[in-house]
Amino acid sequence: MGDHMQWSQEEEENAKKKAAENSLVKVQWEDQDKYEREASKYWNEFYKTHKNNFFKDRNWLFLEFPEILPEKRREELQTEQRSSKHTKINSTNSFSHKNETSEEGEKYWKKNYGGGSASVQGYVYNKNQAKSLTDNPQGKNCGEELGRLESFPGSDATYRILEVGCGAGNSVFPILKVLCNTPGTFLYCCDFASGAVELVKSHSSYNSAWCSAFVHDVCDDALPYPFPDEILDVILLVFVLSTIHPDRMQGVVNRLAKLLKPGGMLLFRDYGRYDTAQLRFKKGHCLSENFYVRGDGTRVYFFTKDEVWNMFNLAGLTEVQNLVDRRLQVNRKKKVKMQRVWIQSKFQKPLLLSLNNPEETTERHHYR
Ligand SMILES: C[S@@+](CC[C@H](N)C(=O)[O-])C[C@H]1O[C@@H](n2cnc3c(N)ncnc32)[C@H](O)[C@@H]1O
Repeated sequence: MGDHMQWSQEEEENAKKKAAENSLVKVQWEDQDKYEREASKYWNEFYKTHKNNFFKDRNWLFLEFPEILPEKRREELQTEQRSSKHTKINSTNSFSHKNETSEEGEKYWKKNYGGGSASVQGYVYNKNQAKSLTDNPQGKNCGEELGRLESFPGSDATYRILEVGCGAGNSVFPILKVLCNTPGTFLYCCDFASGAVELVKSHSSYNSAWCSAFVHDVCDDALPYPFPDEILDVILLVFVLSTIHPDRMQGVVNRLAKLLKPGGMLLFRDYGRYDTAQLRFKKGHCLSENFYVRGDGTRVYFFTKDEVWNMFNLAGLTEVQNLVDRRLQVNRKKKVKMQRVWIQSKFQKPLLLSLNNPEETTERHHYR
């Protein structure tokens, strides 16, 4: 977060004005309905067109989200990185924040924003939430459930990660590179665009011993996951929630929270309110307040950190981190300055209360 910057009052006012202007005209209701019903179709088209050439690999993941890895592996990785070229990770980090997208991605944003040129632990423990968790019959039945589903992909693992909306695998493969040296770990990844899941599964680094990629629509509550509830240590939600209709976001977060073990973490990064990408939309792309559709039918919402806090808190998760990451990106070639705004958050599922001593929490579970 080294280049975190504050906006002046004037910059904030200008941003508000631009967003108000570009949301004056709303997309017609019939079209809005089509974008919702056919959301997976539009993303499938996106991956048919761009394959895995669009987003850059999220090599900043371990720096911003060291919680992805089990604690021991985290320390080893930090030592490895310090003893090799210790500058490497820092430069990778700042670069990747400057450009989330590849060159192909840059061209795409230009075309799809309606003519604009956007390129786009010591954890807190909340007694009330923990109590409600011990009262939750779903939590109590977790062992039973696992008994029934004895053998599922990753059933032998002791540390499990799920990446939601994995796309072409720009986070999956940096994670797998580290996980393949970490016994007992397993990565699940899903996307509702079958073409994206195919790209992940056909990648030369995909290995079903460490990873299971599957097609799944997180908005569909009735769809079962290929593993039981309460077995995940980490859920990664990176630039995905923003693509989902605001009315459905809370349901998605509630369902995901059930998949976490007590003590498990949800790691979130997404677009923030008044990011350059929002301000460069032209009139006629606004669906509802702060929610827009690009020229290719994919949608994007721009969050405030309070909205993110409310959603995760309502799902019973406790804040570990919740911040606005503002950065000034300068494209020297095109002589363009862009004020980027992202929200980065870490929310934890409270640990269970020990039944003998309500003042103590139980150990973080390792279901097998
Ligand atoms: C902006 S892309 C981000 C991809 C990836 N997380 C990354 O950071 O490179 C959003 C992804 O979310 C997926 N997605 C959108 N809605 C979804 C849903 N309801 N269920 C599962 N995946 C979804 C899209 O198909 C797309 O791959």
